[in-house]
Amino acid sequence: VVFLSVVATVHLKTLKESDAIEEVERYIEEKKAEINPRYRLQYHVAPPVGWMNDPNGFSYFRGEHHLFYQFYPYDSQWGPMHWGHVSSPNLVDWKQLPTALVPEKEMCFSGSAVVKDDTLVLLYTGRETTDVEPFFNETQYLALSDDGIKFHKYEGNPVLSFTPNGSPDFRDPKVWKYEHYYYVVIGSKTLDERGRVLLYRSPDLVKWEFLSVIGESTGEMGYMWECPDFFELKGKHIFLFSPQGMEPQGDRYKNTHQTGYIIGSFNYETYEFVPESDFQEIDFGHDFYATQTNEVDGKRILIAWFGMWDVPHPEEVDGWAGAMTIFRELDLVANRVTMKPVDAITELRTETVFEGEFLEDGVIEFEKTGELIVKGDLSKNIELEIKGSNGGGQVVVRWDIETRKVVVDREGDVRQMEWLPLKSESWRMFLDSSSLELFCGEGEVVFSTRVYPDGDWRVTNRSPQPLDAVAYKLRRSVPE
Ligand code: FRU
Repeated sequence: VVFLSVVATVHLKTLKESDAIEEVERYIEEKKAEINPRYRLQYHVAPPVGWMNDPNGFSYFRGEHHLFYQFYPYDSQWGPMHWGHVSSPNLVDWKQLPTALVPEKEMCFSGSAVVKDDTLVLLYTGRETTDVEPFFNETQYLALSDDGIKFHKYEGNPVLSFTPNGSPDFRDPKVWKYEHYYYVVIGSKTLDERGRVLLYRSPDLVKWEFLSVIGESTGEMGYMWECPDFFELKGKHIFLFSPQGMEPQGDRYKNTHQTGYIIGSFNYETYEFVPESDFQEIDFGHDFYATQTNEVDGKRILIAWFGMWDVPHPEEVDGWAGAMTIFRELDLVANRVTMKPVDAITELRTETVFEGEFLEDGVIEFEKTGELIVKGDLSKNIELEIKGSNGGGQVVVRWDIETRKVVVDREGDVRQMEWLPLKSESWRMFLDSSSLELFCGEGEVVFSTRVYPDGDWRVTNRSPQPLDAVAYKLRRSVPE
């Protein structure tokens, strides 16, 4: 009798969860018809309707890559967080799946995924509103799935609710398995408002033990560290995170919040991370935040929110907002983490639209999407003017021989960084209906920037020199 009633309760709960999901899915289906397609991205993951921020639960399960994301279907602005869900066989072609998590008493904040006993397990932050200062509380929740599509929240949630200093800011768990334990890094802060990241471990994902502080701001590094990640790359450990509240310093830290890394070493006996580099940004564009990585075939693959807090999102009036970047492979070269598009990205190419000498004042046109590879003589300036065929979306990309900097100037809002090519001296640019991603050389310097053209893309060579160029048209690889 006891057993039967347990089964009945679990079943009831699952029914309730699936009702909530059906309701969201019905709403999405209806609302989709109202979306204005002009800025809809063709090969970047974006929400079917509504708002998207951080990538979550980037994992591989039963032959497919899974990506979840912070999602609010009911408005194109942030709201009570759900988890949206897509899957892909190759990190390029994406299929929309039903919403994975719906908020109940807790909003479903960012988190990650791990496969345990052939079950896909999500570990996420449950954010609850309380009636006492500071009026919120963050603890860690589990949700499980046998098929990678339908998830049910664990009955014993939350599974982790203690910070060593009692801080209520405790979010964005990134979980991985090493030998017999699961480890997790979680973003938090000190009681005097300095960002920090905590490390815990568990034998079963349910009982957690605090191990150490992986890193902590001395004061200049912001008041809160969000979305931490921690992984091995070429024998070093990379501590990647998104600090909130760093002051701009020259060309650095010019966005609302930053994402970057510290290189160091880590030892599973002392749980101590010893930094061997300063904090460096991993992308210098206008719209890049809250990264998450996963190991795929021995490579470290990264995905980020192609967006930023507290900036205008022009697509908002069209019924959606926010997107993911393209997937990137990381490498560690000469004390820098480099980032280049995953190899599979070439599967997007359909036809070659240009090949040869891109002359001064020459124009290459793309129908909404394109990949452009250019190479010039770096002892002379390079300048590309990119804009919509009917105006709008103007961005100028420049190589400045005086400063040795690559400059991305979006209507006067400049991001720039010194570039010392490691090997390749070309630039690889990806244009989608409302975005630009620029990879310099082997990915020593990368810029991710949203730009909103009117019409198709026109790229004009404004350099005092011809450039070697190849341009491809790229196909759609995400749902309409
Ligand atoms: C980062 C973040 C996370 C949080 C989520 C809420 O962009 O603020 O810290 O979990 O977004 O949507």
